[in-house]
Amino acid sequence: MIFPRARAQRKALPSVPDHGLPRHVAIIMDGNGRWAKARRLPRVAGHRAGAEAVRKVLRAANKLGIECVTLYAFSSENWKRPEEEISDLTGLMKQFIRSELDEIHNGNIRLRIIGDHHAFEPEAAKMVDEAVARTAGNTGSTLVVALNYGSQDELARGIRKLAAQVADGSLDPAAITPDLIGAQLDTAGLPPLDLLIRTSGEQRLSNFLLWQAAYAELYFTETLWPDFDEAALTEAVNCFARRERRYGGL
Ligand code: FPP
Repeated sequence: MIFPRARAQRKALPSVPDHGLPRHVAIIMDGNGRWAKARRLPRVAGHRAGAEAVRKVLRAANKLGIECVTLYAFSSENWKRPEEEISDLTGLMKQFIRSELDEIHNGNIRLRIIGDHHAFEPEAAKMVDEAVARTAGNTGSTLVVALNYGSQDELARGIRKLAAQVADGSLDPAAITPDLIGAQLDTAGLPPLDLLIRTSGEQRLSNFLLWQAAYAELYFTETLWPDFDEAALTEAVNCFARRERRYGGL
């Protein structure tokens, strides 16, 4: 059963209304392995299809007018995977930069990295550095890729910076506010996170943007990442538009 109010809201929202458009959408792209397994394919085929989904979803996000998209491409825990899979994922990253960077740059999109990509093999790390440098002056939307990223590590690094300033006397502990902590994080300067999507039916944050997600709307879908497309993103954004955000108020 649909409650009358929800029905009325749905009628009023046939497509994504401007007022309901999230500025910043983050995605935990999960389910590549299961997608491949269901087709009796090797895991790398799932990751390849996942990279294809990244291309499509970025185009869709751009079309919708989303200002910032953050993708969880490689977590600091993903190093536990077999060497071959890490090498496949690194290869896909490099291929993605080779094939997509011109379009990203020509679309006036700025690439930013959160986490520490210098842990990847030197050629991959250098390609990422060059891509970030090439797009640094772009003023349109922002594509943030989380590479070797873990939210707890990001917070620990930020807090260490503040602790060092307290220790050398340049910072009064009373001046430590949520804004000051946010400014130490890899995401400093990005729009507040509005919508966090996780694909493949898992319902956890897996050490992704824990601080930033404080007031984000969470959206979980059974769709496996390689099957996530423009229609799926539009559905997630429409669902966001129907949410009532109160930030602790009434
Ligand atoms: C999770 O699926 C996905 C990843 C760990 C990697 C995400 C990588 C891509 C989408 C491809 C390359 C990315 C870019 C930016 C070009 P899983 O392997 O954990 O799936 P499973 O839980 O079904 O095994």
